[in-house]
Amino acid sequence: MKGVRVGICGCGTVGTGVARLLTENRELIESRLGVRLILAKVADIDTETDRGMRFESGVFVSDARAVVEDPQIDIIVEMIGGKGFAKELILNALNRGKHVVTANKALLADFGDEIFAAASGKGVDLAYEASVGGCMPIIKTLRESLVGNRIRSMTGILNGTCNYILSRITEAGVDFQTALAEAQRCGYAEADPTLDVEGFDTAHKLAIINALAYGMRINLPDIYVEGISKITPLDIALAREFGYTIKLLAISKDRGDSVEARVHPTMITLSNPLSNVSANLNAITVAGDAVGDMMLYGFGAGMMPTASAVVGDIVDIARNMVSNSAGRVPLLAYQEKSLRPLPVMPMDQIVTNYYIRFAALDRPGVLSKISGILGDLSISIKSVHQKGRRSETAVPVVMLTHTAKEADVKSAISRICELDIIRDAPTLIRMEDANGDDPDMDIS
Ligand code: HSE
Repeated sequence: MKGVRVGICGCGTVGTGVARLLTENRELIESRLGVRLILAKVADIDTETDRGMRFESGVFVSDARAVVEDPQIDIIVEMIGGKGFAKELILNALNRGKHVVTANKALLADFGDEIFAAASGKGVDLAYEASVGGCMPIIKTLRESLVGNRIRSMTGILNGTCNYILSRITEAGVDFQTALAEAQRCGYAEADPTLDVEGFDTAHKLAIINALAYGMRINLPDIYVEGISKITPLDIALAREFGYTIKLLAISKDRGDSVEARVHPTMITLSNPLSNVSANLNAITVAGDAVGDMMLYGFGAGMMPTASAVVGDIVDIARNMVSNSAGRVPLLAYQEKSLRPLPVMPMDQIVTNYYIRFAALDRPGVLSKISGILGDLSISIKSVHQKGRRSETAVPVVMLTHTAKEADVKSAISRICELDIIRDAPTLIRMEDANGDDPDMDIS
């Protein structure tokens, strides 16, 4: 084989990074792969912007469809994003028997079944390392390195925008809107930040890695999703006082005949390694029955870190081509016939610890009314904290619970909200690794 010909569709930030890496590290990559990776075509509708690199004559074109339909090209790298044209191009490429690399988590989370079926129907490879966690090799870890493990759980910080915002609220005490505006100025957040800050981007990623970890179908609609836009500096400051920090986590747990799959702001102890993952970084811990606990850490976005993952995929596919072994690793880690109809546990069934902050009038009997309702629903209080002194305005009353069932906590909160001493909607934050489950009640 003389070389493997690559066509990149979409030359924005990541597409440009891939082109740069394939060009600048060409000799290095060839010395590892054994054949040359030829950057045959790069397509983008914007042919004017200076991308800071020179393409060989005839390489840069405006028509991505023509690149997909070029019989000389072996691997299509989809870097366009979105679910319209990108989907059409990927299916077109797969149906023509071409291998595909993509970073498009939203597309895979929504249309994975159709896209993976098209790839396996044609016996070609579809690689998507950069779709989850940017440079972190979580897909390869789940598909290959941990193949001997039963995966017990995964806990990830998978959105750099949210992590940056929460880190800024924690460090500088600024509010959510100020931190978001800073993230936008730094280029970490999109002009429309909804996908990121409301947790949907993290859910797309969780849907993909859950399928790989447990041999289930990609199941986005069943994932519980709650974003960070309601997190206040007060909650972060209180969390810190109790020895916790707040992170937007993707949480998944093997529950035997079901799987927990949820995305929400979560309090974790300061001793949890994920608490030190700050700014726009990503990290994920995976627990396996043989490996124990392990963690990956790195940039979840950005030109060259993401390009690093994409080029890793291109080389994997090229290696399979060289050894004539496309499909060597199952696309979704499991053999198709072994995929399980594993349900996601309904959110009201999950059991965890809770931080609940009420805005309550500081009057005699307030705590007993609240704790009475919690007690009626068998919710055991671990500690109670009141901030501020007696006044006619509400003060924050925080309760940390022992493990309780979500459905019971929700019922208790709606009953507590009916009390005339409660002002505003309470804030509920789930806790992931509460410091033991000490039955002693601490009133401070
Ligand atoms: N928008 C994502 C983030 C990066 O903020 O982490 C791409 O998945």
